[in-house]
Amino acid sequence: MERRNKFVVVLASAFLFLVQSLLSTTCALHRDHFPPSFLFGTSTSAYQIEGAYQEGNKSLSNWDVFTHSQGMSFCIIHTCLFWFFHCAGGKIKDGSNGDVAADHYHIYMEDIGLMHSLGINSYRFSISWSRILPRGRYGKINPAGIAFYNNLIDSLLLRGIEPFVTLTHYDIPQELEDRYGAWLSPKIQKDFGYFAEVCFSKFGDRVKFWSTFNEPQMMVKNGYGTGEYPPMHRNKEFIAGHNAILSHATAVEIYRKRYQVKQQGMIGIVIFMCWFEPLRNNSLDFLAAQQVMSFQAAWFLDPIIHGDYPPEMRQALGSKLPTFSIKERRKLQYKLDFIGINHYTSLYVRDCTFSPCKSSRNIDESFIYTERNGIPIGKPTAMPNYYVVPYGIEEVVLYTMRRYNNTPMFITENGYAQSSNSSMTELLNDNDRVDSMRQYLTYLNNAMRKGADVRGYFVWSLIDNFEWLYGYTMRFGLHYVDYNTQKRAPKLSARWYEQFLHGVEVQHEHEQVDMI
Ligand code: BGC
Repeated sequence: MERRNKFVVVLASAFLFLVQSLLSTTCALHRDHFPPSFLFGTSTSAYQIEGAYQEGNKSLSNWDVFTHSQGMSFCIIHTCLFWFFHCAGGKIKDGSNGDVAADHYHIYMEDIGLMHSLGINSYRFSISWSRILPRGRYGKINPAGIAFYNNLIDSLLLRGIEPFVTLTHYDIPQELEDRYGAWLSPKIQKDFGYFAEVCFSKFGDRVKFWSTFNEPQMMVKNGYGTGEYPPMHRNKEFIAGHNAILSHATAVEIYRKRYQVKQQGMIGIVIFMCWFEPLRNNSLDFLAAQQVMSFQAAWFLDPIIHGDYPPEMRQALGSKLPTFSIKERRKLQYKLDFIGINHYTSLYVRDCTFSPCKSSRNIDESFIYTERNGIPIGKPTAMPNYYVVPYGIEEVVLYTMRRYNNTPMFITENGYAQSSNSSMTELLNDNDRVDSMRQYLTYLNNAMRKGADVRGYFVWSLIDNFEWLYGYTMRFGLHYVDYNTQKRAPKLSARWYEQFLHGVEVQHEHEQVDMI
């Protein structure tokens, strides 16, 4: 009887969700267009916000060492695995680093207050590996690091905010680099497994969502392919990627065997995913766009979910792509429970096998364009080659749904870049960010109406922060950060998100927020 009642309730809520979703095509965007259990949150990462780089017995991470070393040139890349070179002096555009960043380590309670005012029910953050295990598995667990994340997690839960934790978001203890070359060595699998296990055992009683990696493709492409991120290697991305995939598998195996049944959580991976649109309406460009998608997302997701690299990659790369041994294949059987998608933009792709192309950015024979017939693919943002193309989120979600049998998905990042050079009034009155969020959410909702199992959406980011090679010249926050005083101020987008989450029907009128 009880089971029947449950079934009726599930059926009724599904029906309600369907009706509400159908209404959403004609009505303004509303919280109710998403299921009640849907996670709405904001995202950050340790190195980008925490600061306190030498406090609480934390050791130096690869990013601490990288940002402190001088003399290399600054070259911007970071767009959907394609690189656009703009070289200048100093590695980080403004010569900065994450030593202090947004000082979240000291004022995390204030930041939780901001989350609470927004009304989010989940917060995605990453753990600084070098805070928990300053020497990897070659030293002791650091009690001060454990205490920091325990306090953070407990304080979130007290406010009804579900922690959504990334194990590594680019930063690793420098010691692992110095000892054995980090992701280039299979030894890292053991270290990553050890780190993961420490986190599961210390925090897993309260953390129900784990991601092993944030954007492993960007980590290995930029750190081991083009050399723009630490440790600045070139042409070694596939071996580093191979070790990252197997490190994911190691952590998932540990979670499944020793923790999941008791802790009842989910474990997944977060992948960077742009949408690639054929430049011309012909089958060559269509195939080229498909190929680029494989090099971007399927590179990691196919082995984890289907057990091997995508055939398109194998065909294009031959022996440059490692193969999985029988033992490694066995490890891959643990797969994942969800796919995290970081989606920012879409780009055009053109096949260049049969005709010369002007673009200099290529993966094999495919070339990337940001405009068609002189018209940009979407509204430009402060980040070079990031355009607002809202339908792209529907496309990446449907692509992922089809290729991976509708594995549960979370949009773990979606955001809008402002330049720090803008006036205070412009920064606070971020109407373009509001438009972008509203439109992306509308298209995400379309994908869900088409059957995609999407369970959450996280805005990048809660607060302005250290934007990797761009330092503090770029701002993604819903809250403005004054880096001199560490004061936060809500932007218009924070107010908009808050209204949306509180169920106000949000037709966006361009209003004003006051200066701080
Ligand atoms: C990364 C973030 C970064 C954001 C904006 C994402 O790809 O995960 O760390 O700040 O993009 O560039």
